[in-house]
Amino acid sequence: RTDAYETILVDRAAAPRTALLTLNRPKALNALNLQVMREVVAAAEELDRSPDIGCIVLTGSARAFAAGADIKEMRPHGYMDMYLSDWFTAWDRLAQLRTPTVAAVSGYALGGGCELAMLCDVLLASDTAVFGQPEIKLGVIPGIGGSQRLTRAVGKAKAMELCLTGRTMDAAEAERAGLVSRIVPAEDLLAEALAVAETVAGMSLPVAMMAKEAVNRAFETTLTEGVRFERRLFHAVFAVADQKEGMGAFVEKRPPEFRHR
Ligand code: CAA
Repeated sequence: RTDAYETILVDRAAAPRTALLTLNRPKALNALNLQVMREVVAAAEELDRSPDIGCIVLTGSARAFAAGADIKEMRPHGYMDMYLSDWFTAWDRLAQLRTPTVAAVSGYALGGGCELAMLCDVLLASDTAVFGQPEIKLGVIPGIGGSQRLTRAVGKAKAMELCLTGRTMDAAEAERAGLVSRIVPAEDLLAEALAVAETVAGMSLPVAMMAKEAVNRAFETTLTEGVRFERRLFHAVFAVADQKEGMGAFVEKRPPEFRHR
C-alpha cells in the first residue's frame, strides 16, 4: 500500500503507464537505511507485478539522489550482525525487476547512492550530479555492488581510482566514462526522465522486458552465449501479438497500438 511508506513517495501515474519512486529522507540527504531499502524494494516489486506499469523512474531530491548507505545506522554493527542479517542483500532484487527502470540523478550519488543508480537500467544525470564510491574514506568498501558495476561501467582504471581514493566525478566525467546515458539541465531532469520512461512504457511490455533481459545478459556471460540468448529471444518475439501489431503498423503507415501481450 502506497500510504504505508514513510521514506519514499510513490506516484503510480506520473506519466502514462509510468510510476515514479522518490526517495524522501531530505534531512539525511536520502541516506539509504534499512527502512528505505525495504520500502524501495517492496514498492518496486509491487509495481513490477502491475501489468499497467511499463516503466519505473527512481529519483531523489535536487540536492541528493542519495548520499550513500546510512553511516549512522551501520556504525555500531559487528561482523555477525551484518552476516546474519545479510545486510544490503535485498537491494539485489532491484536488479531482478523485469520492468525497465530509469534512475534520474541530481546532486549527490555517493556510495550506496551511486550503487542504487547503477542498479537501474537507464541512468540520466542532471548537470549537478556527483558520483563516487567514497566508502574507503570511512574505512569500508562498497557493499551494494559498486566495485563490480562501476568497474563494468567505466573500466578498471577509473573504478580503481574512485574506489581507492574516494574521489568523486561530476556529471560530465560520468558521461564521458559511460556511466550515464545522458546529461540534462537540472531543472529538466524529472521531465526528461519521465519522457524517456513514457517512451519505454509505450513499447510492448513483454518485448521491452526481453530487450532488457538481453542487454543484461551481456554482463553475465560470454559473447557467444549472449548472442545465442539474444537470438532465442529474437525468435520468441514472433510469438508476441505486439510483433504483428508493430510490424503491421509500420507497413500500414500508422502508429502501433501495443497491447502488451
Ligand atoms: N549516512 C547518514 N547520514 C548522512 C549521510 C550518510 N551516508 N550523508 C549525509 N548524511 C547526513 C549528515 O550526517 C547530516 O546530518 P545532520 O544534519 O544530522 O548532521 C545531513 O545528512 C546533511 O549532510 P551534511 O551536513 O554532511 O551536508 P553537506 O552538504 O555538508 O555534505 C556530503 C554533503 C558531501 C554528501 C556529505 O554529507 C557526505 O560526505 N556524506 C557521506 C557520503 C558517503 O560517505 N557515502 C558513502 C556511505 S557508505 C556506503 O554507502 C556503503 C555502501 O557501499 C553501501
